[in-house]
Amino acid sequence: MHKKKPLKFDPASLKGISKKQITLHHDKHYASYVEGKNKIEKVLSKEKLDHIRELKKSESHNGSGMYLHEVYFGHLGGKGGKPSGILMKKLKKDFGSFEKWKREFMACTGAARGWVLLCFDWSDCRLHNYAVDFHDEGAVWGAAPIMALDMWEHAYYLDYGPDKKKYIEAFFRNINWKKIEEAYERYAGQKS
Ligand SMILES: [Fe+2]
Repeated sequence: MHKKKPLKFDPASLKGISKKQITLHHDKHYASYVEGKNKIEKVLSKEKLDHIRELKKSESHNGSGMYLHEVYFGHLGGKGGKPSGILMKKLKKDFGSFEKWKREFMACTGAARGWVLLCFDWSDCRLHNYAVDFHDEGAVWGAAPIMALDMWEHAYYLDYGPDKKKYIEAFFRNINWKKIEEAYERYAGQKS
């Protein structure tokens, strides 16, 4: 049984993302993926396997939706700016500079219909930006998301309508880079 993870920051404290927007996103949309995943696991535990294809597609959709939202909410509530320390060093090593990394990441926001992810990929032990539709189309095996930008309309429409650019700027103003660095260290084992 998966439990909804609470927000670790005051929902009224974000800059440019309203309390109503972030609360609805967390309490309704994210919660629905946690509930969806639990429901599927309950069916599977009872060995009700008649509609296994639908179940497995739904398991991937709901499970990925749950996980990516936890990454997203987990690194909001910060002061924005730029990363420092080993994460900055790694971004420079893998992309040439922070600015080059960000240019590619931003380009991905125009391509993704679901998420833009910064991932640590074990296939080459490098960081990569990946663009994902829904929650799981475009996912790369062996790559762990350390940073997730939700590009679904439910993430910004209440605050910005169709103006994705302003939402993305607000997202970056609230990033807690320390959390992303911790995730990188966890997955990379500080070896790369
Ligand atoms: Fe979302």
